[in-house]
Amino acid sequence: MTESNNKDIFSEDQVKPFQPPEDFKASAQVKDDGLYKKAEKDKLAFWADMAENLDWTKKWDQVLDDSNPPYFKWFVNGKINVSANCIDRHIENGLGDKKAIVFEGEQGDTASLTYSELLKEVNKFSNVLRELGVSSGDTVTLWMPMIPEAVVAMLACTRVGAVHSVVFGGFSPDSLKDRILDSKSKVLITADGANRKGKVLPMIGAAAEALEDCPSIEKVIIVERSGADYDPIEGRDLRWEDLMKDAEEDFSPVEMDAEDPLFILYSSGTTGKPKGILHTTGGYLVGVNTTHRYVFDHRDDDIFWCTADIGWITGHSYIVYGPLSNGSTVFMYEGTPDYPKRDRFWELVEKYKITVFYTAPTAIRSFMRWGNHFPEGRDLSSLRLLGSVGEPINPEAWLWYHEHIGKGKCPIVDTWWQTETGMIMITPLPGVTPLKPGSATKPFPGIDAEVVDDQGEPSKPGQRGFLVVKSPWPAMLRTLYEDPDRYENTYWKQYPGLYFTGDGAWKDEQGYFWIMGRVDDVLNVSGHRIGTMEVESALVDHRDVAEAAVIGKVHEVKGHAITAFVTLKEGVEGSEELVKELKAHVGKKIGAIARPEEVFFTYELPKTRSGKIMRRLLRDIAEQRDLGDVTTLMDPDVVASIKEEYKGS
Ligand code: WTA
Repeated sequence: MTESNNKDIFSEDQVKPFQPPEDFKASAQVKDDGLYKKAEKDKLAFWADMAENLDWTKKWDQVLDDSNPPYFKWFVNGKINVSANCIDRHIENGLGDKKAIVFEGEQGDTASLTYSELLKEVNKFSNVLRELGVSSGDTVTLWMPMIPEAVVAMLACTRVGAVHSVVFGGFSPDSLKDRILDSKSKVLITADGANRKGKVLPMIGAAAEALEDCPSIEKVIIVERSGADYDPIEGRDLRWEDLMKDAEEDFSPVEMDAEDPLFILYSSGTTGKPKGILHTTGGYLVGVNTTHRYVFDHRDDDIFWCTADIGWITGHSYIVYGPLSNGSTVFMYEGTPDYPKRDRFWELVEKYKITVFYTAPTAIRSFMRWGNHFPEGRDLSSLRLLGSVGEPINPEAWLWYHEHIGKGKCPIVDTWWQTETGMIMITPLPGVTPLKPGSATKPFPGIDAEVVDDQGEPSKPGQRGFLVVKSPWPAMLRTLYEDPDRYENTYWKQYPGLYFTGDGAWKDEQGYFWIMGRVDDVLNVSGHRIGTMEVESALVDHRDVAEAAVIGKVHEVKGHAITAFVTLKEGVEGSEELVKELKAHVGKKIGAIARPEEVFFTYELPKTRSGKIMRRLLRDIAEQRDLGDVTTLMDPDVVASIKEEYKGS
């Protein structure tokens, strides 16, 4: 990683930077480098200042307690409630009739909630939760489609002081089960089913079997969304509509400590078991409130659309907590960009006059492939700012997005961050930062990001290294749920005192950051993190599989495509049928996003002398590159035979 490779790196950087358009700059939240200067002068004073933008019921005594690293506390002894900051205070400021959520379903059904209506729903659902015995510190799991009820449920959890664990609706019931068992949730909120490309995907009905193994779950609350059939279990299953009908409309938000847990969000790591990333209350809200305001240049008349699912951190931070804490109007869509037609997103931009649009490079690459006539057929003139997140955006996709969606007039904020960071960390500020396509540009004010070499020393310009964060930030994860050792080992052991992101990166002469992607065994498939070990565990779980190795093959649209090399048990023959079965098995164990694109059978897997599977080599084979150094391999013949089998397939 540390070899200097300036020549070909700088060739990526030949495009002249795009300056912020004058008219954009004229009315931007940030017009000069004042914010950077302020944060540089005194970081803690800067964050304290940002925290003043929220309503605290008791002010903090200390901005940061860093006496026990890597366990940091922000806004020590401050008291606050997240839902009160996302709803009540806007109503007190006269925004009760402003739309908080504007929703469209896949079938074209619509709904919206003003801030006053949102308060009513959240209060009612808070009473429902309290009636069911949910109180401060309890964990509630959500496994839901992209519908307004999901936002209502999340906010109600924060109002009663419960910790939510949102599981992406596309994960399988088995994955849901693992996450419920780990978090010991008492309540599950779900739906009868979800609408997906014109079909109904059953949810509660499909999860019934997995839930039998979840003893902590006392109640299941089911939203009727799709009409999918299910057999309710007496005493356990309750209908959302029934519960809400008679619920009281008043509920006083529970005062929470700044460091009380707010949510757990499971994310893939380098082992088979997902990590329960834990975020707390005060610092997280300060982080997402501040970044939403400045990165997305919040304006009162914005219609803000973040296309992420609520089950990912991007949905948590920039559908719910960031924009709502700023009193923004959030647009939410249930479906995919290609149903019923490939201009669905542009139809929605036109219809709802979306002003700020935030999506992932994988989606942008699909739009490019589908053809320019889809966006060209729609009026996109309401757009004023575009965003990108989830993986490095290739300059070609950046330029296409800028020209065909932004019509050359919208700045693009390429935002680097992670589930762990909670908030955007490296990003342009659209009114001031000259943009270089493919670069997330510079750290947000108050963020100490750096690229370092093997020794933890700052890399020279153009030198590839590892992305780290040198000092704590308010929205950082606090630990991994009930696994402090893994927290310390994953993030703080690589370079003592520095937070290790797991990403490779380099900086150019102007200090711009260029992120290269993961340096660990985590794949980025369509902007979603999938651990190779998770997929391997799912494969090995199949009765016919002896061993499996999974790699990410570079893929034009998805970033990575999952490729699996599988060794079968004695006496089992590989077949097309078995390939199908194994793909389906992974889909069942984890979810459709983790289903391998390709499965190859092999007699053995290449390993180092210490028994570690050589994924780099498998990647080279899959991408048909020349093999590098194979001298450390236990049995070099294995490689030759895998290569032969792969070619022959
Ligand atoms: C990658 C998503 C390059 C990176 C918010 C990171 C990016 C992982 C970018 C986190 C970006 C995210 N440019 N790479 N703008 N944004 N990544 O936890 O590898 O789902 O470590 O959080 O996505 O993924 P996660």
